[in-house]
Amino acid sequence: MKIGILSRNQSLYSTRRLIEAAQQRGHEVAVIDALRCYMNINSSEPEIHFKGQQLSGFDAIVPRIGASVTFYGCAVLRQFEMMGVYPLNESVAITRSRDKLRSLQLLSRKGVGMPITGFASKPDDVKDLLEMVGGTPVVIKLLEGTQGIGVVLAETRKAAESVIEAFMGLKANIMVQEYIKEAGGADIRCFVIGDRVIAAMKRQAQEGEFRSNLHRGGSATLVKISPEERRTAIAAAKAMGLNVAGVDLLRSERGPLVMEVNSSPGLEGIEKATGKDIASMIISFIEKNAAAKRTATRGKG
Ligand SMILES: Nc1ncnc2c1ncn2[C@@H]1O[C@H](COP(=O)(O)OP(=O)(O)O)[C@@H](O)[C@H]1O
Ligand SMILES: [Mg+2]
Repeated sequence: MKIGILSRNQSLYSTRRLIEAAQQRGHEVAVIDALRCYMNINSSEPEIHFKGQQLSGFDAIVPRIGASVTFYGCAVLRQFEMMGVYPLNESVAITRSRDKLRSLQLLSRKGVGMPITGFASKPDDVKDLLEMVGGTPVVIKLLEGTQGIGVVLAETRKAAESVIEAFMGLKANIMVQEYIKEAGGADIRCFVIGDRVIAAMKRQAQEGEFRSNLHRGGSATLVKISPEERRTAIAAAKAMGLNVAGVDLLRSERGPLVMEVNSSPGLEGIEKATGKDIASMIISFIEKNAAAKRTATRGKG
């Protein structure tokens, strides 16, 4: 097959591993920087050009779209979809998962467990907003944040009110969430491919920190997950419509709670923590599904 990887930089660990795995399995691979693509949108023959050449003949695209290039990256992926190329994750599912509010609303509709969460833009009654989620301590998050930046633990009502007012002053949309203390500064990253969790790791925040992000100094180890955690992760990926997803769970007294669903989950932390060749599992999934799609399309005539 000819597989395109939408990535800005081919020296990134995940991109490198996907190239390696695809080549090992006998595929042709090209890394495409979405920002440098330009497109011709028309009804008869949609085109994508890159470095002066028309991109054609691709069987599948692996989107590795960074948070900062979601808008244009998804537009390029959508163009590939219009050309009949199989996307590992569909552009519409990626767009969905990038919006934390929309994601949690979708998960709640499917009955997937999550921390009690309030959303606000300009709340006229901060006290009521805090009571709505069960009072302090609360976690306050910027809707657009990643890597733990913009996630604050407010232990008292006074602290919570100040933080909410400060974020409001910056005209930021915020999320106010029940603090899951019993998670003990850890979360579980479940790596979903298709309808299976193929690897899981526990990320533990460093001493004195409640955010377990590896970018914030958290450490990752192999973990065995429960059947309920497995079901929750698969249900969350399915609710978002993602074939490949990193589902982050908090272990709470009332069972697993989904914090977020990542549509371009990194491979480095999870491959190192579990020793699994996840890149090859992804390519193998593409082999099965891109081929099935081609047959189905042919069938339709
Ligand atoms: N409601 C919560 N209760 C306990 N810990 C939380 C809660 N929300 C977030 N955390 C901790 O903070 C980290 C970062 O939060 P997250 O929502 O994943 O933001 P980001 O998108 O920036 O990673 C999580 O990995 C988790 O360890
Ligand atoms: Mg996170």
